[in-house]
Amino acid sequence: MISAIECIHASKSFREPADRGDRAGRNGPGARALRVLRVLDLVIPRRVRVDAVKDVSFQVNKGEIFGILGPNGSGKSTLVRLIATLLTPDSGTVTVFGQDVASDRLAVRRCINRVSVEAAFFKRLSALENLEYAARLYGLDAREGKRRAEAILERLGFPHKKVTVPLENLSRGMQQKVAIARALMTAPVALLLDEPTTGLDPVSKREVQDFVLEVRRTHDTTVILTTHDMQEAERLCDRIAVIHNGEFVAMDTPENLKASFGDGNGHTPTLEEAFFRLTGGNVEDWLREQGE
Ligand SMILES: Nc1ncnc2c1ncn2[C@@H]1O[C@H](COP(=O)(O)OP(=O)(O)O)[C@@H](O)[C@H]1O
Ligand SMILES: [Mg+2]
Repeated sequence: MISAIECIHASKSFREPADRGDRAGRNGPGARALRVLRVLDLVIPRRVRVDAVKDVSFQVNKGEIFGILGPNGSGKSTLVRLIATLLTPDSGTVTVFGQDVASDRLAVRRCINRVSVEAAFFKRLSALENLEYAARLYGLDAREGKRRAEAILERLGFPHKKVTVPLENLSRGMQQKVAIARALMTAPVALLLDEPTTGLDPVSKREVQDFVLEVRRTHDTTVILTTHDMQEAERLCDRIAVIHNGEFVAMDTPENLKASFGDGNGHTPTLEEAFFRLTGGNVEDWLREQGE
C-alpha cells in the first residue's frame, strides 16, 4: 500500500495570550500556572505556551478513511491545519504524497481539499452561486460547474428550493453541507474533513456520512476525518487515532481498539468504553463538553 499522508514526530505549540485561559484549557498546565501566579499576586506572564500537537506520528494509506477522535481542544484542528499547510510544524515532518508541507506547500495544496466549520463563503450569495464561483476557481466551465454543483447538493440531501437562498439565511447544518459540496466539486485526491457532521441533525449526519463513503468508493480518495462522535468514527473509519491533550493515546481499527479493552471473559467493550478508559474521562463530562 502506498502511504498517502505521513506525520513523523510532528509537534506544534502556540504562545497563548494569558487572558485567554479558556483556550489553554480550564485544567491545562497553562491555566494552572496562571492560577498559581494570581494567588501569589505575581506579575502575570503575557503569554502561556499551549502544546496543541505533541510528537504525533502516523501514516495514512491511499484510499483509507483515517479518523482522529478526541474531545474539544484536544488538537484535532491543529493537526488538520498542519497537514493542510495552514500551519508549519515546530518539529517533525508532515508529508502528503511524499511532498513536504513546509517546503512544497503549493504541491500539497493542489492535492488536498479541507472542509472545516469555519469555512469562508460569500454569505450574501446562495449555495449555487458559491459553488459556481468555486467551480470557476477550479477551472471548470460555467455549465459544467452548475451541473456538478446541483448534482452534489442533491446527493447531500440539500433541498432544491433552497439552492438560491443566500447562505446567511440558512441553518448552520445547511451551510455545512455547502462546505462539503465545495470540497467535492473536483475529485480530490485527499480530503481533510474537520468535524464534518458536528451540528448536523441525525438525518443530515447520515447523508454526509454516506456521501463520504461514496466518495471514497468511487474516487479512491484518501480521507482524514476528525470527530468527537464515536458512532461516526466506528461507522466510517478504517482506523482511528484517539487524541488526548495533543497526543495520540491509541491508534488501531475500531474492532482492535475495542478488543484491546476486553476483560478476558468474553466481554468486548463498546468504543465508548474503550475511549473513556484511554482518556480517563467519563461519559457525562464528555456529553456536557460537547453540549449535546
Ligand atoms: N491559533 C491558535 N492560537 C493559540 N492557541 C491555539 C490556536 N489554535 C488552537 N489553539 C489551542 O490549541 C489546543 C488545541 O486546539 P484545536 O486543535 O483547535 O483542538 P480541537 O480541534 O480538537 O478542538 C487548544 O488548547 C487551543 O486553545
Ligand atoms: Mg477543532
